[in-house]
Amino acid sequence: MHDTGEWHALSAHRDALRGVHLRDLFDRDSDRGERLTAEADGLLLDYSKNRLTDETVALLAALADGVRLREWIVNMLTGEVVNFTESRPAWHTALRRPDPPPEVGEELDRMAAFASEAHGGKWDALVNIGIGGSDLGPAMATAALATYVNQELDVRFLSNVDGAHFREVTRGLDPARTLFIVVSKTFTTTETLTNARTARAWVADAVGAKAANSHFAAVTARSDKAREFGIDANAVFAMWDWVGGRYSLGSAVGLSLMAAVGPDAFADMLAGMHHIDEHFRTAPWAENLPALLGLIGIWNRNFWGWPTYAVLPYSQELALFPAYIQQLDMESSGKSVQADGTPAPTATGPVVWGQPGTNGQHAFHQLLHQGTDIVPVEFIGFCRPNHSHIEHHDLLMANLFAQAEALAFGAPDAGDPHRQFPGNRPSTVLLADQLTPRTLGQLVALYEHKVFTQATVWSINPFDQGGVELGKTLATDIAAELTGAAHPNPTRDSSTQSLINRYLEHR
Ligand code: F6P
Repeated sequence: MHDTGEWHALSAHRDALRGVHLRDLFDRDSDRGERLTAEADGLLLDYSKNRLTDETVALLAALADGVRLREWIVNMLTGEVVNFTESRPAWHTALRRPDPPPEVGEELDRMAAFASEAHGGKWDALVNIGIGGSDLGPAMATAALATYVNQELDVRFLSNVDGAHFREVTRGLDPARTLFIVVSKTFTTTETLTNARTARAWVADAVGAKAANSHFAAVTARSDKAREFGIDANAVFAMWDWVGGRYSLGSAVGLSLMAAVGPDAFADMLAGMHHIDEHFRTAPWAENLPALLGLIGIWNRNFWGWPTYAVLPYSQELALFPAYIQQLDMESSGKSVQADGTPAPTATGPVVWGQPGTNGQHAFHQLLHQGTDIVPVEFIGFCRPNHSHIEHHDLLMANLFAQAEALAFGAPDAGDPHRQFPGNRPSTVLLADQLTPRTLGQLVALYEHKVFTQATVWSINPFDQGGVELGKTLATDIAAELTGAAHPNPTRDSSTQSLINRYLEHR
């Protein structure tokens, strides 16, 4: 791909754009700000403050055609084997189709029944136990849709194996009135099983070992393992091997979310996702929000060489969205081997980071404006808030607009070099009417397909995560040594061994 005509044309075009300031691009093109936008179902993408022109978009569209992006999208959406290293589909889009596969529809019905029972008066609290994709999606979405949450049930999320998390999440809860959902696709994840065992002991202390099992439900692709754990088959919800953890919010992994916001809001979220799936499949590249976001990501990463980007939602409700996108993007795109097993010839996944504005402005925006590295920013904002404090919302959004403006145009004539703002720092703005379940679904699908677009260009598999395995194996070995179940590994390096020794001496 890096040795194709499309790639070389983009390189030459980037050379021509070097030294051109965003100020120049706007000065010589009065309707650039309206034109370099795209819209889908009320969601506006303004990409005009990136270092690009109409020609860039045309060249990027040619790149998308060159890697047969449209064909790959259809393959993904029709359940073809696109996760080629694990020989299976990545068919999360089937979860949100209006006509889902029968097993998906059945599970959605079971989830709705469970969600309504959870509100039957027996439970005060529901704790989701899971990590990574079995935590970040429902945790992010439950916070994002706080205004839709039925407050009668206190829905909380336990992920870290750090006992402090268990202590904090269960603080103030009555074990006799707390329901747990153990979410683990594999049902082998150490953190999740450790937390689940601790939770069961905590409940058993209050209600006895026999009754404790009725406080547990599970979501997993390994129902056998959940039943072995003692969870009743009726309380085990299926996920399928064709749904990746970080793509699983629309599956039963979203059960805690559904219990929090209700089946209707959950269905609206699925509808928002499906809308973007269809948009991704059908819209021309220059009007295609996920494709544009991905192609601009390629432009920034590969042609300008910027190694990170920031996701900055101007929305406290989206406080966990950057962390969610971090897993989605970095676990998918942090690869250096191509489909054919050869080393990736260009840079792949960038580092993703961020937190909500305006807080970040008082923390790290200094570096965004004056630092030596360029960090492209993706701002997310809403025209209408989910609260009545309009003056707050005007201020919040004024700050979003001002940050994008300051980054792009700077303030060249300040005199004092310490106070100079160079500008020419790229950003993209996603502006929606309001943060609703549907909008949230759109945003999630938008980023999923952004990641897919980039992976297709890089020819990497975005649906596996082999890079997490070595650490898990080593931790299991070390844990056995810490508990005395195994002897120290004589071939271990001296740094790791002396850290372990010091830990054992001091704990
Ligand atoms: O370790 C990474 C990972 O496998 C993620 O991909 C996944 O979302 C998370 O762990 C949790 O896995 P599981 O749902 O199997 O417990």
